[in-house]
Order: sequence, then C-alpha cells, then structure tokens
Amino acid sequence: MKFSYASLLISFLLIIFFSDCRNQSERAPGKNISKQEPDGPNLDWFREAKFGMFIHWGPYSCLAGEYNGRQVPVSQNAEWIMKNLTIPVNEYHEVARKMNPLKFDADELVRLAKETGMKYIVITAKHHDGFAMYDSKVSDYNIVKWGSFGRDPLKELSEACARHGIKFCFYYSHREDWDHPGGYGNNWDYDNDWGSDLYNKAAFNKYLEEKAKPQLRELLTNYGPVGLVWFDRGMYTPEQGMEFVRLVHDLQPATLINGRVGHYDQELPGDYQSMADNGMPPGGLGEYWETPMTLNRTWGFSKFDTLWKSPETVITRLVEIVSRGGNFLLNIGPTGDGEIPEATKRIFSEVGPWVSRNAESIYGTTANPFGELPWGYCTVKGNRLYLHVRDWPSDGKIKLQGLKNQANSAYLLKDQSERLSFTCNEEQIVIQVPSVAPDKPLSVVVLELNGAPVVAPREVFQDENGSLMLDYLTVKTTGKAVTRFNRKGGFHISKWNGPDDIAEWMIKINKPGIFKVNITYAANKEWDGEKYEIAAGNQVIRQSVVHTGDWYDYQEFPAGYLEFTEAGVIRLTIRPADQSTTNLMYLKSIRLDPVKETKRYGWSSSNTESLLSD
Ligand code: GLC
Repeated sequence: MKFSYASLLISFLLIIFFSDCRNQSERAPGKNISKQEPDGPNLDWFREAKFGMFIHWGPYSCLAGEYNGRQVPVSQNAEWIMKNLTIPVNEYHEVARKMNPLKFDADELVRLAKETGMKYIVITAKHHDGFAMYDSKVSDYNIVKWGSFGRDPLKELSEACARHGIKFCFYYSHREDWDHPGGYGNNWDYDNDWGSDLYNKAAFNKYLEEKAKPQLRELLTNYGPVGLVWFDRGMYTPEQGMEFVRLVHDLQPATLINGRVGHYDQELPGDYQSMADNGMPPGGLGEYWETPMTLNRTWGFSKFDTLWKSPETVITRLVEIVSRGGNFLLNIGPTGDGEIPEATKRIFSEVGPWVSRNAESIYGTTANPFGELPWGYCTVKGNRLYLHVRDWPSDGKIKLQGLKNQANSAYLLKDQSERLSFTCNEEQIVIQVPSVAPDKPLSVVVLELNGAPVVAPREVFQDENGSLMLDYLTVKTTGKAVTRFNRKGGFHISKWNGPDDIAEWMIKINKPGIFKVNITYAANKEWDGEKYEIAAGNQVIRQSVVHTGDWYDYQEFPAGYLEFTEAGVIRLTIRPADQSTTNLMYLKSIRLDPVKETKRYGWSSSNTESLLSD
C-alpha cells in the first residue's frame, strides 16, 4: 500500500513537471502499435533470442563448389552441387564416403555462436542431397556409418549446446531428397515429373514413410530438447505439411516449426514464418518471423565464394530485423574437414563485441512502433526506447516524432553515467547528443519513458493526385486480424473471421471530395460471398467477397464511394460483417481515388455507383 501511495505521488509530481509533454498525450488517443501478440509460451525463448547461427554442412562442403573440374557458379548455392552439376547418386555416394571431418569441434562452434551473441544453432541434419549428418538407424547413408568418421556431430553439438546454454535446433529437408528415388528433386537419376502436381504419389509417400518421418522421429527422440525444426522448400499439399507439424509436436510439444513446412502457395502453418532467403519485410508484421541470411553468397562452403558481408552489414542487418520484430538466422558454412572459415571467425569477432555492448537493446525487445526513421532503427523494452542511430547527426540533434508519452531521461547506452538533455514540444522530442558517434556502425541512445511507449497513429496522406493508399504498412489491426507474410514475397492482412477483427487506418484529408474505393485482395473459393464492411465516419460500404482464383492471386475490385466534405483526420475501418468459420480475405490494400466529378450529390454509398462517373 505504502509503495503505491509513493508511486502515485511521484507520478503526480512528474505529471506537473513534464506538463508540456503530457499535454501532447492528451491531444488524441494514442495507440501502442508494437502489436506482436504472444502466440503461446513456446515462443518465449525465440522472442528473447533474436539472433541464431545457421550451419550448412554436409558432403557438398567437401566439394567446396567444384566437382571433376566443373564449378558451381558463385551466384549459385554450393550445397546444391549435386543437382547443379547433376552428379549421379552413385558418384555422390563416394563423395559422402570420403567425408571425414576430423577438425569438427562442437565446442568451438558453440563458443563462436555464443561469443557472437547468437542464442540458438540450427544445423543441417539432412539437406537436399539426402545424406544424414547424424547417426541414423533408418538409413546407413549417414555420417556415422557411411564413411570412416564414426562420430555423431549432432550428438556432439547438442551436448555442447546444452553445456553452453544455447538452444539446439536442426534443419531437415523433408520434401527434397535427391538420394531417395521417391524424394523430390532428382530428375537426372530417377524418371519422375517432380515439378508438377502429377508427381508419383506412391513413390513420394514411400519416401515420406520410410525415410523422412522416421528420421525426424529419431532426431526428436535422441538429441534432447530441440528448440526448433527448420523445414525447407514446402510440401505438395497442406495436409502433408500438417503431418510433419503433428509429428514434431507429438514428440516434442514445445519445439517450434518454421513456416516452410507447408505448401508454399497456400495458408502457412508453422509457429513462425521464415522470410525468403535474405528477405526483409518493409514493415513490422503481426506474426513472429525470422530472416535466414548467409555470410557470403552460398550456404554450403565454396572455395570460390569470397564475397563476405562486412561486420557493419551484419550488425546493421541484425538491428534492422530486430527493429521490425524479427529474428536473424545467420549462416556459416564449415569446410568438409569441419573447419570454420577464417573469414567467418574474423567477421564474427567484430560482430560479437558490438552485440555484447548493446545487448540490452537487442534481446527481448519488441518492434519499432514509429514506422521508418530517417536516422536509423528503434527497438522497445518496457519503458525504454532504444534508438539505434546509423546516421549520427551533424547538428547533434536526434529527432523523434509521434511519441505520446512523457520522456523521463535520455542517455547513451554505452555511458549511462551522463544524462543527455532533450526538449519536447507538440511535434517532436529532440535529444541533444555529443558531436561524435560513440559507437560504430550504430550508436544506441536510450530514451526512458513514463510507461510503455504510446505512439500517435500513423496517418496516411493524400498523394499528389489526391489518392490514398491503405496497406499493411500503416494499418492497425485488432482482434484476430494480423499482417502476414506470403511465400510469394507479398504481405497482406488475414486471419479475420468476425466483426471484432478489424483493420483500421487514420487518413488525413487535405483535399476533400468524393473518392472511389478500390479494394485489392485474394480470396479462396470457400470465402466467396463472405460479407465485409468498409466504414468511415457514418458512411458504410457493404460488399461481398469474390473468389479470385489461386491463393495469392490478388485482384482489384471497385467497392463503392466515400465522400469527405471537410479536411481532417478520419478513421477508416474494414471488417467481416458477420461471424464466420472461414477467413474473410487476404487484403492487400484499399485505394481511395478522388473522382473528377466536382458536383455534389445527395447520395448514399449504396447508390453512388450509378450517380458518379470517374
Ligand atoms: C534455399 C536453398 C537451400 C538453403 C536454404 C536456406 O532454400 O535452396 O539450399 O538451405 O535456402 O534458407
């Protein structure tokens, strides 16, 4: 009780002291838009971790991008050498037999990950070549039984991970297998039309039942707790993907599954989504996600690929991803001997200290609630904003707009003893910083607030033609509606099926008038006829969803008209009109175009179509 009276008194004094900033927050109801709702406790460690190490390692590493004098071009992935150079299965078997990675040192790998700031390791248990990098009873085609090595690297790695407090995870190529006659992908040894839906179902099922599934069962049974399973390249059908989801969760309910487990072009299952390789969403997403990126160009080791990313690039990419709410899975490709390339160690030795100095601003943070910032990136933890300044200001001023809270203090993360002065007015907060950037490539300024950040809704402005584009970048979603990634590289709003699942935008009208409303979405057959409502002020447009074809076939439809008679900020929403059992649509955007007609009609949104022409 005593405590709460004291904190009440302190809050009261602070409110008086910072009345200028407080007044700002009274102007309009703010919103907290760092909306990544927890999808269950199993994601806790993943949300905290942010940074992981990917390891691509197998017989392809021994070839290092070259076979019998033929080379895999540097622009292509060296772990694909078997397919790219169409090496016959029998010949590749001999490559695998010679793999004897005596320099493999699980402790060294785990230490490297730890010193670089990585919290989980994902290693290829079986890549597309079909060779198991662990002791498998299912098939002798594995690193322990096939050649002379006789050790189980995954066992050693999982134990080293447990010793060092790193989450052990593995990659498993579930659909693609160039060794098994039923697996997807080998069309040079086996006669099959693997590309289309006309695949040999019986052969593929045989592969799934006698290799992929039993191997996954081994991996989930014999290597202790597995943080996540990283599947790749999708499945033919969503049902096949779901069989793998169930298999993993039956054996280890807490293990996470990445989104590449299912059919690529259809609804994405999995506990979180994997962006495209090296991919990055242009804004935050409503789901958890991860970007896989490799340190040079290939994933598996190639002696020809020396296009290493600089430590600055790696650090900036990490922060950029984290500031958008994602995790960064950075790949290394050890040599066939099991050695970590010198360049990798050199780059990591510069990344690690920066991450460790700035750990507080990375781990366990949530996404930037402000939208694009001209000087860098922002992450959030509790009452603190971490401003990662990339372009250190020559005038010593860092400006932040849209914050509705009061700021209590500002300081450099590197030197917390000295407070930075700042001013705030109606429009922005301006922090005075030293003339020289204290860190490189990013310096972190901490802004401590009086509560979790509350940020002014982002307004959508009319462009030079008077049009407004409403999409996932500026949306606020509530209820079950979320912004999602689709495997074709697009983003949309989805997972909504009732009137409480709302997407909304604050639109700023400078040039009032009548606007034609165009909506772009994709809709499945089962969603045909679902009703939706677009509302702005007291105007409501009611429409039905039209089936657009395939899963991500977005199409534009005219939805109706809206009229804004005065300049100002208006809230525009779209939601399912009724409670339904199916998704409403994959909404890509709503576009408002001013109609040329200047004459005003006494009209209602339902009859405007006949009254107006544009
Ligand atoms: C691509 C490549 C594959 C690699 C993966 C990593 O799917 O084909 O070789 O393992 O990206 O994300």
